Amino acid sequence: MKKVTTSTLMKWKQEGKKFASSTAYDASFAQLFEQQEMPVLLVGDSLGMVLQGKPDTLPVTVDDVAYHTRCVRAGSPNSLLMADMPFMSYPTPEKACESAAALMQAGANMVKLEGGAWLVETVKMLTERAVPVCAHLGLTPQSVNIFGGFKVQGRDQEQAEQMVKDALALQHAGAQIVLLECVPMALAERITNALTVPVIGIGAGNVTDGQILVMHDMFGIAANYMPKFSKNFLAESGDMRQAVSQYITDVESGVFPGPDHTIA
Ligand code: KIV
Repeated sequence: MKKVTTSTLMKWKQEGKKFASSTAYDASFAQLFEQQEMPVLLVGDSLGMVLQGKPDTLPVTVDDVAYHTRCVRAGSPNSLLMADMPFMSYPTPEKACESAAALMQAGANMVKLEGGAWLVETVKMLTERAVPVCAHLGLTPQSVNIFGGFKVQGRDQEQAEQMVKDALALQHAGAQIVLLECVPMALAERITNALTVPVIGIGAGNVTDGQILVMHDMFGIAANYMPKFSKNFLAESGDMRQAVSQYITDVESGVFPGPDHTIA
């Protein structure tokens, strides 16, 4: 696979070419993903749930994400590799720089932060210091205790308007990707059309520029819970490589996520 960068994704957005991405946590799966030409990988703090068996992502540390980032980078030299900034690793712009440095030095190309316009100063500071940022909006799992559960976000008009404003403010501050999780498809479409940077969706319909799945959900093997918007791509063929290839093809053609895996 040719090296994938933020410029590659910008070009794809301009060309209207959709792209797939997945979480990854170790070198073997990272290599398998790269062999199937998965352009973007994320070392998600979902590792707290799918690897560590915790009920949420809050216990994950920067050291945890840095460790798995080193593993994934070893297996996938050419993907655009994002690393999650864990809970409370970016309460201030200064602390965010410290946390981001550890993840970039572990091999990430970009860090992902959860939150809206309150992150503008942090995103500015990181990008000015050569750390590309993906801004995660919608159902931001680190806020599970504020939301009162893992709930769809942006259903009411006020929330939806705020999310559009947040996305624009974060792009203006320098964010080079926006990720939308569990938002109604119409809102995801509005944000995708409003932004010049690529938008990656999960539980946001097939209207975003890219899609992402937690790899354990893609294979139908998550220990705790399978979200309604995810699909077990392993069920049909029983072959992991074929499952990954099918996921990529279905995303690129707009077949996935279909109506059964979309929040109206
Ligand atoms: O941590 C993670 O895996 C994520 C994805 C759900 C996007 O943030």
